Amino acid sequence: MERVVSGIRPTGRLHLGNYFGAMVNFVKMQETNDCMFFIADIHSLTTHPNPVDLQGNVRQTLIEYLASGLDPEKAIIYVQSDVPETYELYSLLNMIVYIGELNRTTSFKDKVRQNPNNVNAGLLTYPVLMAADILIHHAAKVPVGKDQEQHLEMTRTFASRFNNIYKVQYFKEPTAFNFGHELIKIPGLDGSGKMGKSKGNGIFLADEPSVIRKKVMKAVTDSGPTEPNSSVSESVNNLFTIMDVVSDSETVKFFRESYANCTIRYGDLKKQLAEDIIKFTTPIYERMQELSSNEEMLKKTARIGAEKARESASKTVREVREIMGIRTL
Ligand code: TRP
Repeated sequence: MERVVSGIRPTGRLHLGNYFGAMVNFVKMQETNDCMFFIADIHSLTTHPNPVDLQGNVRQTLIEYLASGLDPEKAIIYVQSDVPETYELYSLLNMIVYIGELNRTTSFKDKVRQNPNNVNAGLLTYPVLMAADILIHHAAKVPVGKDQEQHLEMTRTFASRFNNIYKVQYFKEPTAFNFGHELIKIPGLDGSGKMGKSKGNGIFLADEPSVIRKKVMKAVTDSGPTEPNSSVSESVNNLFTIMDVVSDSETVKFFRESYANCTIRYGDLKKQLAEDIIKFTTPIYERMQELSSNEEMLKKTARIGAEKARESASKTVREVREIMGIRTL
């Protein structure tokens, strides 16, 4: 079985875009791979979140992982900071990483532009921490979105550079695992682009039915089709796209046809869409409620995940120390 490693920053609230973009695929992958999924809480420190918020978001992310179907019996699920070996590999790797290549990282340049007052070293070395997450478990595959591909490319560079400098064949170069055509991109409710956390266009797994109804009813549409078979505007097409994943095919067909023959009423479309989203999220929502009142279970899951992850991580760190010459006298 191939070792798969992936992390998600603890935003605390997964939206339908995260669910269909990542979680569904993670759930599938855990069946046939040796998967490790972790909550990247150290990464989120670059923006100095309020400590209580951070802790709550880590807890909520774990709940959402489990409620979405990640199974601690099938995959190793852990919190990044519970594996302190990560920090150690990160500092060792920093010695073979050049400032120039970090400065040229696209995500870093974006952050500098967005936040010129908080250009910290953690942000600069973000790709090194991510490489540590991956290399510490000798991952073969890393499921990532487009925005993370450069980081993975850098992970490969660091791995092969380490091997070259120390004349070893130690680290494996991981490949990006792209879900390709299987990847469902969920658009937002504001008429254009992807569903996002901060854009206010998203539906969260933790949203109550009344909230979902309100959000869907407010979704952006257009003034309606005026002639038969006219092309569908982006905003309306976005609603159809969401409908494609949550509604049954008869429903989708009905509304697409009523668009084509100009009888569609967007109010009806939205009502149906809201109910179908609710039908879809309700079981997940209920599992979240259950888990959230089961502190023991959450603690135990995190503890067992950390134990398993540390087994693999501590072995790597021991070997890397030895290779680099950090040896006890
Ligand atoms: N940087 C990733 C993101 O923002 C999260 C992440 C951290 C990650 N470490 C990782 C993903 C290791 C895959 C493997 O989405």
